[in-house]
Amino acid sequence: MKILLDKIYRRLLRPFDAFYYRFLAGGDSALNRRLGAGVLAREQGSGKGDVPQSQAQWDQQYSGGQWNFLNQLGEMPRYAVIAGFLQVLSEGGTLLDVGSGEGILLHHLRSTTWSRYLGIDLSTSAIEQGNAAAPEGATFEVADAEEFQPSTLFDGVVLNECLHYFHQPVAEAQRYYRAVKPGGVMIVSIFCSPRGQSIVRQLGRKMPPEEFFEIRGSRGTWAISVYLKPAS
Ligand SMILES: C[S@@+](CC[C@H](N)C(=O)[O-])C[C@H]1O[C@@H](n2cnc3c(N)ncnc32)[C@H](O)[C@@H]1O
Repeated sequence: MKILLDKIYRRLLRPFDAFYYRFLAGGDSALNRRLGAGVLAREQGSGKGDVPQSQAQWDQQYSGGQWNFLNQLGEMPRYAVIAGFLQVLSEGGTLLDVGSGEGILLHHLRSTTWSRYLGIDLSTSAIEQGNAAAPEGATFEVADAEEFQPSTLFDGVVLNECLHYFHQPVAEAQRYYRAVKPGGVMIVSIFCSPRGQSIVRQLGRKMPPEEFFEIRGSRGTWAISVYLKPAS
């Protein structure tokens, strides 16, 4: 009974949540933060939102094959666009793939695109899969991207469909930009759910990208932002 009431309550508040993401998210006032906490709690409670989740939840999803669909054809254009930018902008460079999952992007890259690849992800299950299929020079490590401190700078940093799972997406994007070498590139891809779109807007205001693209497919739209770090 309680589960049913929770479901009805969440459904009734859905238009408010959409309004929050469209007009209020990212604001600094105490009221704004309180409303945001409520929306987040509802999305987390539904188990469906693209919101922060625990390591155990990610592991369960990866072990249960819930993310296998990322290997489907409809997802390929997003990986291909990111791979193309990396090939042109940081060919042969070092690469940090934040929230890499099991490394699908890595397998879309030409071997000439990178010299060293590091994928980090919260899910131990995804990282095990990544290491099991990693070519020489590629490593996957379990890490919480919101705490991970890069020990070196990278020619390319990719935040591919992971930013919306962070508590402070815009601040994290700014922090990872600092891990890009002068002359390097950072690429951010975000699926345009109400929360995702709101993050794309906030990010665009704080960090206008050099290039911005949208890929529209049958499952929805992905926004891809490209940040170039000046050479000096
Ligand atoms: C939708 S999947 C995308 C995976 C991969 N980037 C891709 O596009 O194939 C989101 C990934 O973000 C990871 N993730 C979520 N929160 C994270 C965190 N705080 N630190 C590291 N990884 C995280 C998840 O474990 C998951 O692998």
